[in-house]
Amino acid sequence: MTYDVVVLGLGYVGLPLAQQATRAGLRVLGFDVKPGVVTALNAGRSHVDDLTDADVREMIGGGFRATTDETLIADAGTAVICVPTPLAEGDGPDLRAVVGATEAIGRNLRPGTLVVLESTTYPGTTDEVVRPLLEKLSGLTAGIDFHLAFSPERIDPGNERFGPRNTPKVVGGYTRACADRVAAFYGRFVDTVVRTKGTREAETAKLLENTYRHVNIALVNEMARFCHELGIDLWDVIHAASTKPFGFQAFFPGPGVGGHCIPIDPNYLSHNVRSKLGYPFRFVELAQEINATMPDYVARRAQNLLNADGQAVHGATILLLGVTYKPNIADQRESPATPLAGRLSALGATVMYHDPHVASWTVGDIEVARTDDLEGAAAAADLVILVQNHREYDADHLAGVSKRFFDTRGVTTAKEAHRL
Ligand SMILES: NC(=O)c1ccc[n+]([C@@H]2O[C@H](COP(=O)([O-])OP(=O)(O)OC[C@H]3O[C@@H](n4cnc5c(N)ncnc54)[C@H](O)[C@@H]3O)[C@@H](O)[C@H]2O)c1
Repeated sequence: MTYDVVVLGLGYVGLPLAQQATRAGLRVLGFDVKPGVVTALNAGRSHVDDLTDADVREMIGGGFRATTDETLIADAGTAVICVPTPLAEGDGPDLRAVVGATEAIGRNLRPGTLVVLESTTYPGTTDEVVRPLLEKLSGLTAGIDFHLAFSPERIDPGNERFGPRNTPKVVGGYTRACADRVAAFYGRFVDTVVRTKGTREAETAKLLENTYRHVNIALVNEMARFCHELGIDLWDVIHAASTKPFGFQAFFPGPGVGGHCIPIDPNYLSHNVRSKLGYPFRFVELAQEINATMPDYVARRAQNLLNADGQAVHGATILLLGVTYKPNIADQRESPATPLAGRLSALGATVMYHDPHVASWTVGDIEVARTDDLEGAAAAADLVILVQNHREYDADHLAGVSKRFFDTRGVTTAKEAHRL
């Protein structure tokens, strides 16, 4: 075998995995369907936040190379699928990329290969979608001729403390031998490997983790609304509650949930429960409803703030600070800033944004005006909304120079600021 592993899908998940494996001395091939991604990586350029160009060059120095040629998959002992799993129309799972990657492996599968699915998906995908495709295209049998496993990706982009090496890796094998093989594979470059009974348990563990966050964020988002009405500072409440050394984990309200996981993955589970069993997963559906309406709630609060001074949203200039889905990264996927800007524009506001990580920003068909003059734009705007608290922002200072400052992240202490 020329390669120890081929990583299929070189994005936020696949590239850090390839990096970790390369650093551990494995011979790593990256496969992606986007020629632009492959060309850039082979030229030493990174397209994800967590890796710099220097990191990619280090990988290339360590033997990594990227390709769009699927026949090279046959030269790897292990194939790991890290492709996107978005929502289809009607909020069902869109498994087209998983199917595409599985077919590419199936056409090139050799006896003895380990195939691992890492993409987040509904329980049963490895056994019901990936396995039959691999078997059909290769003529080989899972558990006998090749090994098959699911291992959920847990990457947290921008997290400086926990990366692919020190985040325990959950693995579920199709058979016991598959479990042994996949545990040994990740054990080469991950500190702790945790086995589940089978592939479905590993698939569901990932969905439980994301659903847990989704539901708890919805809980505090709902509380934010009534605490505001009651004149209670929820941020202070959370601070107090989180001093309990056991049985409580702090979650914080915000303008809505974003990213590729929290707003999407729990739907995979609720859709699966509904389609297989015919009843709803009520927690997920309720959390979805609450979190999805937060941008609208923030727009309403913005409207009220202007209204209190006799000013309409219509014709007001509103500056949004930070439009990515989490702080200090460039990823804008599912960012609540997008529906918020859409709502404010629909009400007639002139929306502008500042974000050191986002060079241009389009909402619907409209390119939102960008400013680099943070203080000047904050002072000139009728309202400033802190949507994402990037480390470049001194929120209290900005609240001081703004006419009105709405802090959706609870980071200000200045009394001029209005907190969510
Ligand atoms: N980004 C995260 O923080 C995160 C965290 C945990 C889990 N996940 C899960 O990991 C999976 C991948 O997410 P991501 O954020 O890395 O996506 P991404 O969009 O950053 O990268 C995916 C890559 O896969 C490529 N691709 C698409 N179809 C392909 C195919 N058929 N064959 C090969 N490559 C293909 C794309 O061109 C892209 O470069 C998803 O299931 C996601 O839910 C993501």
